[in-house]
Amino acid sequence: MRSIIEKEQQKRQQKEHTIHMQRLIQEGGYISPDEYLWEDILVGVALKKPILLKGPSGAGKTKLAQSISHFFNQPMHSVNCSVDLDAESLLGFKTIVQKDGETMIEFVEGPVVKAMKEGHILYIDEINMAKPETLPILHSVLDHRRMLTNPFTGEVIYAHEDFTVISAINEGYVGTSPMNEALKNRFISFSIPYLSGEELRKVMESDFPDASKQLIDTMMNIGNELKKQVMNGLLSDEAASIRSLLDAISLAEHISVKRAIRYAIAEKLEDQIERNLIMELVDTWVK
Ligand SMILES: Nc1ncnc2c1ncn2[C@@H]1O[C@H](COP(=O)(O)OP(=O)(O)OP(=O)(O)O)[C@@H](O)[C@H]1O
Ligand SMILES: [Mg+2]
Repeated sequence: MRSIIEKEQQKRQQKEHTIHMQRLIQEGGYISPDEYLWEDILVGVALKKPILLKGPSGAGKTKLAQSISHFFNQPMHSVNCSVDLDAESLLGFKTIVQKDGETMIEFVEGPVVKAMKEGHILYIDEINMAKPETLPILHSVLDHRRMLTNPFTGEVIYAHEDFTVISAINEGYVGTSPMNEALKNRFISFSIPYLSGEELRKVMESDFPDASKQLIDTMMNIGNELKKQVMNGLLSDEAASIRSLLDAISLAEHISVKRAIRYAIAEKLEDQIERNLIMELVDTWVK
């Protein structure tokens, strides 16, 4: 592990926690598709760069952010973006409270303000679902200034040195808008692919320690085949979603593998031809 990561980890958490946290990563944490990705992202975090995770649904983006939170023993605040996201849901809002018989106005801090002050992780999910005019409020938070003037209170907030921003996007999905260039420019970006091969097997075995080897082997073959067909352009990206594959394994521990794959993978796809193709592929792997 690169020394900048270790140094940062020790700084952000008590030393005795380090070993415990590393174990957590191995058991059910994010599994890197290659030997670099996980560590490269940690280097970005250690250097206090905002991190953008780009990848299809079920590729492990949220799991990765949670694993970083465990690794640095640092709480995480999440914001789920939608067209309704406004400055209040990011920064907080004013409310009326009664204190010692007096009526006062108090500001309830939102996730951005809390994470900045406490030095926590801010996870902004589906950042390209937000209306483009909402996010410029974060520009000064995301660049070298690492500060914000709260428009509701006038307070100038300088981020704690451990404050970390991680965002995730599914590029090109319905309802998303292309990310504004100035916003995108502030992030270091990583493509998060669907796992395959031995890494995929590791996730399956760690999530389903009691599953038979035969079931894991079958699902590995199906997973690899689905990924191949996605690359051939015959299936849409989500057909190879790791989330769906893991759902199929959990069903297949109780019902037939074919039905499990139908419900967890095939039925989610819009296109009838794709649904049929998946079930045909399954027929070749499951007798
Ligand atoms: N590389 C990986 N390592 C460990 N678990 C993974 C990995 N990829 C996917 N998973 C598992 O797949 C499931 C879906 O992952 P997750 O929710 O993180 O996906 P996501 O990329 O955030 O999807 P979405 O864009 O739909 O929010 C989880 O159960 C997660 O543990
Ligand atoms: Mg997610």
